[in-house]
Amino acid sequence: MTPIVGVTTEVNINQDRLWESLMQLAQIGNYTDERTGLRGVNRLALTDADAAGRALVVKWLREAGLRVRIDEIGNVYGRREGRLTHLPPVLVGSHIDSVTTAGAFDGCLGVLGGLEMVRSMNEAGLVTDHPVEVAFFTEEEGVRFGTDMLGSAVAVGRIGLDDAYARTDINGVTVGSELERHGFRGKAPVRIQAPHAYVECHIEQGPVLSSTGRDLGVVTGIQAISWQELTLLGKAAHAGTTPMELRHDAGLATAMVTTKLHEMARSGGYGDLRVTIGRVDAYPNLINIVPARVICTVDLRNPSEAYMKDAETELRSYLEFVSAQTGVEITAKQTAKTPLVTFDGDVENLIAEKIDAVGLSHSRLLSGAGHDAGEMASICPTAMIFVPGEYDGISHNPREYSTPEACANGVQVLTDVVRTLSTDGKIKQ
Ligand code: GLV
Ligand code: MN
Ligand code: MN
Repeated sequence: MTPIVGVTTEVNINQDRLWESLMQLAQIGNYTDERTGLRGVNRLALTDADAAGRALVVKWLREAGLRVRIDEIGNVYGRREGRLTHLPPVLVGSHIDSVTTAGAFDGCLGVLGGLEMVRSMNEAGLVTDHPVEVAFFTEEEGVRFGTDMLGSAVAVGRIGLDDAYARTDINGVTVGSELERHGFRGKAPVRIQAPHAYVECHIEQGPVLSSTGRDLGVVTGIQAISWQELTLLGKAAHAGTTPMELRHDAGLATAMVTTKLHEMARSGGYGDLRVTIGRVDAYPNLINIVPARVICTVDLRNPSEAYMKDAETELRSYLEFVSAQTGVEITAKQTAKTPLVTFDGDVENLIAEKIDAVGLSHSRLLSGAGHDAGEMASICPTAMIFVPGEYDGISHNPREYSTPEACANGVQVLTDVVRTLSTDGKIKQ
């Protein structure tokens, strides 16, 4: 066991074991990027690779002595009993599904960090008052079935179970059928009772901590997220024979929308608006045919609800303008929408206290990415610990990397926070 320098808590997590688990899980769904030669992870939700990852983590949870239950949307909870079994559990967790071009850490650190916490509690013989549970939630990424934080949103009642089952991927395959196929449509009721508190350890996925040289982040909340899918219907035409003024070019309409969104973000008129048109599918996608149809996604993020609303309104009216200008019919479907989330001040302060206690530095920051913690915050006191990443914190990419020491720092603090929450009930409900 490699002790972490400066840590003198009663439950010392094992850095090497944590790292080994992260690297082992990353073998499932691993691939080599053709262009860069880098090794990445592809465990899109409820694919065969995700199911294999799930099976491995369930096995590890059971080996750590946890009682595992699987709910109706495939969320998995492992329970370590407390002295007072009637008390609500302290819940930690995250997700193990990934985007198609992922690294080893996004989500997995929170889940395997929770596992490492339990393994270390067991070794230390720690008895808590509250039960402690480690969870991983279904389809956090939202990349396959179109809406992020799906499993945790159903667990807290923001999205209905039947709506979730009926969601489809681009091939028309439903969430419900994939859960059945993999044996992950569990029997435990999906709506959870409010935990005593929820704490999630996650990589930052951005450059703030590394650029300021801070060891860890105390997360104060999550900015608002709005996802839309646009369908732009133009008219196919021959590239050489069709005069420009007679075209209905879905590609042109897409370019106009893209440019407009970037102008809005740069204008400063919408606060700190971030815009991404990340997926563009053109049809027929051939060099000498005017695009007849484009399906593209719009991802808007904003730390201000008011500015987010303004941006959505402006986009709506601009789509009408583009349609009139180009003769391209445009429909917009909202596929995900989560508000600005503010975390619990007491849990944040406890995290900060525990970081100070192990002699590490921190700063407080708002999360730019969505997390299951955003859903849990609607039912219980919640906050997050951010671990810095290398290479400007790049994430959703095979280059995603946090050092073994940084990961261990985050998980040690997670453990210290959970110890306090589960023994002296410090957080008020
Ligand atoms: C989750 O990874 C997000 O897109 O914020
Ligand atoms: Mn994540
Ligand atoms: Mn992610």
